[in-house]
Amino acid sequence: MNSQGQNPAHERFELDEAAIDAARQSIDDGVITATLNLPVDKLIKLLNDSLATELVCVLRYRRHHFTVDGVTSPKIKEEFLVHAQEEQAHADKLAERIVQLGGKPDFSPETLKSRSHADYDDSDTLASMVRANLVAERVAIEAYRQLIQLIGDRDPTTRQMLTDILADEEEHADELKDWLPKN
Ligand SMILES: [Fe+2]
Ligand SMILES: [Fe+2]
Repeated sequence: MNSQGQNPAHERFELDEAAIDAARQSIDDGVITATLNLPVDKLIKLLNDSLATELVCVLRYRRHHFTVDGVTSPKIKEEFLVHAQEEQAHADKLAERIVQLGGKPDFSPETLKSRSHADYDDSDTLASMVRANLVAERVAIEAYRQLIQLIGDRDPTTRQMLTDILADEEEHADELKDWLPKN
């Protein structure tokens, strides 16, 4: 409480009118306003690295879906396809957000592998496929955690999108862990 009997925290509880006025300007920037207070180019680059990661994951899971022995492991064969579709949905969300932020989503196959955090895998046994996917999921989880931390509270929309994707990756890793051969 101050001398007027008001709580200082309540006095500060108001919108930044100057920032709202500034949002009326620079309409070419799309969703970006001055208050976003982010190095948007760097954010777009990192989102493009995540997009590359998701696209490599789509390729890896689809390859595993088509080549794994479906007679001995029909359930896992189908789950590889489900994961591939979910990774594709992640890629689509990332591409859409990159455009909203004024950037260009990079789908170039030439640089996909080098920009991806996770690796492709062309192994032939179920055990090595499961292991490769688990490693890739763990790598994706770590990269998303770091990106979410970097964004902090400066871009709640991108942060929420990444948090939703992260929850899916954790579910993928959890399933894969259960499929690791017990020995
Ligand atoms: Fe993903
Ligand atoms: Fe995943």
